[in-house]
Amino acid sequence: MFDTTYDDCWLQYEPVDDADLAAYRERLSHAYVSEGAPELGAVRAELQLGLEGMLGDEPHFWQHPPRSVENFLVIGHPEEMRPIHQTIDPDEVWALEDDSYVIRTVEWEGQECTVITAPNDAGLVYGTFDLLRRVALGEPIDDLDIVSEPANNSRIINHWDNPFRRSVERGYAGQSIFDWERLPDTRQRYFDYARLLSSVGINGVVPNNVNTGIPDRPTANDAVAERAGWQLLERENLEKLESLASVFRRYGIQIYLSVNYAAPIRLGDLETADPHDPEVQQWWQDKVDEIYEIIPDFGGFLVKADSEGQPGPYDYDRSHAEGANVLGEAFEGHSGRVWWRAFVYSEHDDRAVQAYEAFEHIDGEFHEKVTVQIKNGPIDFQQREPVSTLFGAMPETDLGCELQITGEYTGQGVHPTYHVPMWKEALEFDTYADGEGTPVKDVLAERDGQGIAGVGIVGEDPSWTGNYLLQSNLYGFGRLCWNPDLETEDITDEWVRQTFGHDDGVVDAVSEILHDSWQACIDYHTGGIGLMHMMYNGEEALENHYDPAPWEWPEYIGATEDGIGVDRTSEGSGYAAQYRDPITERYDDVESCPKELLLFFHHLEWDHELEDGRTVVQTLYDNCHAGVNAVREMRATWESLEGIVDDRRYRHVAQRFDEHVFQAERWCETLCVYFYEKSEIPDAHGRVPTSE
Ligand code: GCU
Repeated sequence: MFDTTYDDCWLQYEPVDDADLAAYRERLSHAYVSEGAPELGAVRAELQLGLEGMLGDEPHFWQHPPRSVENFLVIGHPEEMRPIHQTIDPDEVWALEDDSYVIRTVEWEGQECTVITAPNDAGLVYGTFDLLRRVALGEPIDDLDIVSEPANNSRIINHWDNPFRRSVERGYAGQSIFDWERLPDTRQRYFDYARLLSSVGINGVVPNNVNTGIPDRPTANDAVAERAGWQLLERENLEKLESLASVFRRYGIQIYLSVNYAAPIRLGDLETADPHDPEVQQWWQDKVDEIYEIIPDFGGFLVKADSEGQPGPYDYDRSHAEGANVLGEAFEGHSGRVWWRAFVYSEHDDRAVQAYEAFEHIDGEFHEKVTVQIKNGPIDFQQREPVSTLFGAMPETDLGCELQITGEYTGQGVHPTYHVPMWKEALEFDTYADGEGTPVKDVLAERDGQGIAGVGIVGEDPSWTGNYLLQSNLYGFGRLCWNPDLETEDITDEWVRQTFGHDDGVVDAVSEILHDSWQACIDYHTGGIGLMHMMYNGEEALENHYDPAPWEWPEYIGATEDGIGVDRTSEGSGYAAQYRDPITERYDDVESCPKELLLFFHHLEWDHELEDGRTVVQTLYDNCHAGVNAVREMRATWESLEGIVDDRRYRHVAQRFDEHVFQAERWCETLCVYFYEKSEIPDAHGRVPTSE
């Protein structure tokens, strides 16, 4: 099992039910696994660990197909091993996308084999984890016929970890797990992290923050303070990076890097980073070639440019396409590519409008090695946002979707806010990019250079994620990237059973908590009808984003004496007009605008009546309180598990819940007082303090 200082998450590999043991043992006690690539080492190691835990014994590995047993497991490429190629058409397998796999029960020379085969080595690892998951979930494996292809070609974690300093921007689970001081020495934790990611189908990791200039803050240790993320492009650090890559590679995962747009100046001593300058172009080309000499399967670059103080092509009066293409060209002939973030502000007063303004007009101008990575919503990972207009607006560009696994605005490492239903909503959203029926998930799955990136959540904390229940977001992220058609409830059920076991009471209770958590989070953080961005920013170098402070953000809330909300219709800031019809129409009209987004698109009078007869302000009061009540119920549900869930995890989560209830009450009270002071309309139920 894992090192005892941190949790096994969903790879607990607890003993299976006695009633199922014989059936699993019959099929999994003997294995014949190819020896080719490093990935096969990971396959064997995982089988040993998983089957020993679940079946009591590791499998017996054979050099040749064993004749003395009736059933065995075979893992390898389609043409490589007779039990496979004589029973499965290799062309069927080679035709699959990379990372796919086939798991099939076949008859071979009078014996029954469970075959795992795949078009590439990584697929064998993903297939092995799939089989182990079935056992952990207690599913039958005696007649399998599974062909699984990932919907998204790239399924990447974006760490916002500051190397050297080992802090994590928007990380709520302790220090960064990546220890650049010690690399190239590796740690067991890298292997275990790679196992967790691979088990849910992730195939890329960016280990450093998009803000490559950090540390910007002084620290007691100047040697550390002087070193920042952009320096990872130095040769010495690239060699360390290869060491990380060698761990992740075994699990089918490629390593990427966040890079600084001014690297030709900072590292290359050039006078400019202008993308039109031939020396700059050559510098990037040489750097990328150098990386591939060291890391032959390097995944590519992630770039935050012209955003929140980061340098970029605007510094030279160039567009983002011109800026990105110089990097894209450097990847010609190499396997990787450039992920160029669309998180860019512009002059427009309404931030929602800005990314589209910067990117839509350059659709079709990006190099084929560039993917434009768009946050799910137009603001910034709020509790609920409408889907970014850019997904429907750039048909000629490879697009990636950026989701946030860490809970910057959803209660950080404390509130167990489950993001899977939020992501589902975004991925299912119909963009009408190619007429009705073009949901975001299809836009992303359409081409090879596309996919989904998630802002990482793990740190050195024993729970990995700051709150044991938040492991569900990492699990769900990977599962959804692989297959966005999965239902939220199925993902939850898988995660809970593998993490906490099959006790019905536990499964029901934990599932209920997770399923109620997102709506509760929206309600007490926003009042539930489209407001957002009401958090405390503060003077801290890294803004707090946790406590309530609606007064800090008048332009996001639009609260006046007469009403609240921001007019983002076609007549207002124009954000709604960036969608394709009929979405624009739907949001423009207050009658058809979905209630949950009403105040995002409309400024409405405080006493404007909603469909159910309640006024806007009363609805805000009621929802804030409903959110708090829901959190109290979630806590009570968790408390019903005392003595049933192991003590360590029970206590940790219970303490998080105490803070969660406190914080939800605080948000509710702060927002309600704010709404009252602005509207001067008291709560019909007398819950809002009305005296100063
Ligand atoms: C948010 C977040 C920052 C982050 C930025 C980004 O603004 O608060 O910490 O750097 O998003 O996505 O680049």
